[in-house]
Amino acid sequence: MTKRVFIKTYGCQMNVYDSARMVELVAPLGYAPSDSPRGADLVILNTCHIREKAAEKVFSELGGIRHLKRAKERRGERMIVAVAGCVAQAEGEEIRRRASFVDLVFGPQTYHRLPEMIARATRAAGDGVLDTSFPAEPKFDHLPAARAAGEVSAPLTIQEGCDKFCTFCVVPYTRGAEFSRPAAQVIAEAERLAEGGARELTLLGQNVNAYHGAAPANGPDGGGEWGLGDLLRALARIPGLDRLRYTTSHPRDVDDGLVAAHRDVPELMPFLHLPVQSGSDRVLAAMNRRHTADDYRRTVGRLRRARPDLALSSDFIVGYPGESDLDFRATLDLVVEMGFAQAYSFKYSPRPGTPAAAEKQLAEPVKAARLAELQALLQQQQGAFNAAAVGTVMPVLFEKPGRHEGQLVGRSPYLQPVHADAAAAHIGDILPVHIVGVRGNSLTGAIDDGRGREAAR
Ligand code: 5AD
Ligand code: SF4
Repeated sequence: MTKRVFIKTYGCQMNVYDSARMVELVAPLGYAPSDSPRGADLVILNTCHIREKAAEKVFSELGGIRHLKRAKERRGERMIVAVAGCVAQAEGEEIRRRASFVDLVFGPQTYHRLPEMIARATRAAGDGVLDTSFPAEPKFDHLPAARAAGEVSAPLTIQEGCDKFCTFCVVPYTRGAEFSRPAAQVIAEAERLAEGGARELTLLGQNVNAYHGAAPANGPDGGGEWGLGDLLRALARIPGLDRLRYTTSHPRDVDDGLVAAHRDVPELMPFLHLPVQSGSDRVLAAMNRRHTADDYRRTVGRLRRARPDLALSSDFIVGYPGESDLDFRATLDLVVEMGFAQAYSFKYSPRPGTPAAAEKQLAEPVKAARLAELQALLQQQQGAFNAAAVGTVMPVLFEKPGRHEGQLVGRSPYLQPVHADAAAAHIGDILPVHIVGVRGNSLTGAIDDGRGREAAR
C-alpha cells in the first residue's frame, strides 16, 4: 500500500528546494506526496528560524499534529513526525523535550540521511532520532539525481551557508559554513531540469554571489574555480533555458565577472534582489555588514551601467539596537535615491545566540512606527514601478493557472506576476503580453498576438 508524506515548508526558497528534495528521497521508500497531514504516514515540518515566533509557530503546528498522530495510533497505525530545517538545527534539544512525540529532528545539512533516519525510527518505536550535525561529506553528493519534471520555473541550490556573521542573523549558525557546489554538478542538474521542461532557473544560496565552485574538470578552467558570472554564462548555453535568476546576494560579493554577466548574458533577467538592510553607515557597521551606504550606491551604479533596465529589490531591518531617528532617515533617503521595484522590510527581532540579541533593544512602538513609514515608501515605489509597465508589451513566462477560469499567471522579466487570458497549453511558453492594468502587486494584460489587442478582464 502506498504511504503518504506531508511536508509543510516555512521560510525561504532554499527550504522550498530542500522540501522538494526530501519528497524525492522518500519516494523510493513508497511515500507519495499528500497535501494534508490528516492520515499521512510521514509528516515533515521544514522550519525557518530567521525571525521571531518562528519556533513558536512550529510548536503550535505540532500541537495539531500530535492529535492526528494519536488518532492514527488509536487505529493501530503509525505516523512518523519529523521537524527539519533551521529551527530543528537551532533548537533540536528543546523540540525533543517539549514535543517528545516527534520522531526525527534534523538540520538542513543532514536531510540526505532521511531514509536511514526513517528506518531507524520505524525500528525503534519511541526513541527518536536527533541529527543536527554538520557532516564533512556534502549532502549534495548523496541526493538523488532524478528531479521531478514539469516545473516551468525551478529552484536550484548552488551554494549554502554563510561566513559573514552579520550580528542579527542566525544563518551562519543554522546553515553552517559557506559551501559551493562544483560547477559540473550544478550544470548536470540544470540540464536535467531543462529536459524536464524548466525554462527558468533561480539559483539559490544564502550568499549566492559568494559562489566559488570547482570549475568543470574537462574545461579550460579545470582545477580552478568559477564565480557566479562564469556559472551563469555556462547555464545560459543549455538548450531550453531562457531565463536565469539568482538570490540572495550580498553587496560585498558583486564582482566584475558578475557585473559583466549582467551586461552580456541576455538570459540573465534584469531583476536583482540585493539586500542593504540599512542606509546608515553607523548601523551597517554595528551589523557587521562590511559595506557602507556609498558602497551600495556604487555597486548599484556598476550594475545599472551594465544593465540599464535592472530592477532592484532589497531587504531592510528597522529598529536595530541603537538605531537613531537620524539613522532611520538615512535608510529612507537611500530608498528614495535608489528606487526599488519591490522590497522586504522587517522589525529587528533578537535571535538567541546572535551578538545583537544581547544589546539594549529599541521600544516596540518605535520599531512599529519606523516599519510603517518605510513600508509606505516602498509600497509607493513598487506601485510606481508597476504602473510604469502599463501600456508596454513584455515577454511573460506562463507558469500556472490564474485565479479565474481561462486565465494563466506568469512572470515578467522584472519578476512581476502577470495575469492574462490564455489556454492552459501555454504554460511553459514565453509570450508577449500587452500590459493593461495593475491589480495589487500584480499586472494584468492580454496576449499580444500581432492581430491587435485583446481586451483584458
Ligand atoms: N530580525 C529581523 N530581520 C532579520 N533578517 C534576518 N535576521 C533578522 C532578524 N534577526 C532579515 C534580513 C535578511 C532577511 C532574509 O531577513 O533582512 O536579509
Ligand atoms: Fe545572514 Fe545574509 Fe548576513 Fe550571512 S550575509 S549573516 S545570511 S544576513
